[in-house]
Amino acid sequence: MRTQVGIVGCGPAGLFLAHLLHRAGIESVILESRSRADVEGTIRAGVLEHWVVELMHQMGLGERMKREGHFHTGITLQWNRQRLHLDMEELTNGKKVTVYAQHEVLKDLIAARLADGGEILFSVSGTAIRDVDTDRPFITFRRGAEGAEERLDCDYVIGADGFHGPGRQAIPASQRTEYQKIYPFGWLGILARAPLSWHELIYANQGEGFALLSTRSPEIQRMYIQCDPKDDIANWSDRRIWDQLHARLATEDGWQLQEGEIFQKGIIPLRSFVCEPMQYGRLFLAGDAAHIVPPTGAKGLNLAVADVLVLSRALEEKYRRNSSEKLERYSATVLRRIWKGERFSWYMTTMLHRNEGETPFEQRIHLADLDFVRTSRAAATALAENYVGLPFDE
Ligand code: DHB
Repeated sequence: MRTQVGIVGCGPAGLFLAHLLHRAGIESVILESRSRADVEGTIRAGVLEHWVVELMHQMGLGERMKREGHFHTGITLQWNRQRLHLDMEELTNGKKVTVYAQHEVLKDLIAARLADGGEILFSVSGTAIRDVDTDRPFITFRRGAEGAEERLDCDYVIGADGFHGPGRQAIPASQRTEYQKIYPFGWLGILARAPLSWHELIYANQGEGFALLSTRSPEIQRMYIQCDPKDDIANWSDRRIWDQLHARLATEDGWQLQEGEIFQKGIIPLRSFVCEPMQYGRLFLAGDAAHIVPPTGAKGLNLAVADVLVLSRALEEKYRRNSSEKLERYSATVLRRIWKGERFSWYMTTMLHRNEGETPFEQRIHLADLDFVRTSRAAATALAENYVGLPFDE
């Protein structure tokens, strides 16, 4: 098989890239190790930055999101049983976010890609990326677990295959530097059939630590609480989860969190990670293959889409005008914005979680950070600008 751009990974980075390239008249093939059902069923975060929503509409992919997504013009921060409402729309000259689950975005992008005649091979195994330091890179793989080894020749290989995929490993270890921070807490996430409790997302730090109230639909709510990342979900009865949510979200104004049937629950660890550079020869990394953020602020998908927007423009310039200049600068360009996403996600995480490993001095500093957002329009604006999505600096 031959294509222009071989993409490993059918997550947000791979799918947005395939669509953007198609619009520019550039062919691609996506190889994915998971089944279509797995990709479409994996529960992740659900906040789309302002420009991602505009991009989906421009690409003709925003119809269901417009019907089923929820526009949010503000967020609520809570600590010491007090609320702070941040009017992001007012602070950022009209920008807002949309709450629409990542796997719903993926369903829409997969269906549209297949309808356009695009090629996505699901459930491939043994994927190996070869010869990216030559002019003739290729990818080898098998269909399913048993298929014969096949070869996809391409001009460029994109590693959009997540943190554990082969993409990053195809850059020799001597040619990359990895930066990492592991947090001493995880998130326990639930989906519950319950009415909406509040008209905005609530980020709280109270009692035993962080809690987040989010939504999926008027009937289904998404909530998270900080927990031990190594804890067994079997230790968390529904009652214990609700009790913790009530305690961490309680305010003085008599507001009540609405309970319901919990039908999905799981624990995830939190990490920050960046690999530099994000390119080597004809290999380019995008999304989680190169960088991970802790989920506070929901930047993961947004950073991945930002990578491939820049990458698609660079590839377009190469194919249209035979200029490699933007491709050569790809890693340096996207890392400037990625590090700001890393900074924001780390800031939201450290400010909003209780960390027993920190000194009482550091814990007081996080309270001061929150109070700074309450009392300074500049601090509130900085948080809001990051939350709705920072501008591009190409
Ligand atoms: C959601 C997840 C986040 O990490 C966040 O900051 C906000 C919302 C969510 O899953 O809805």
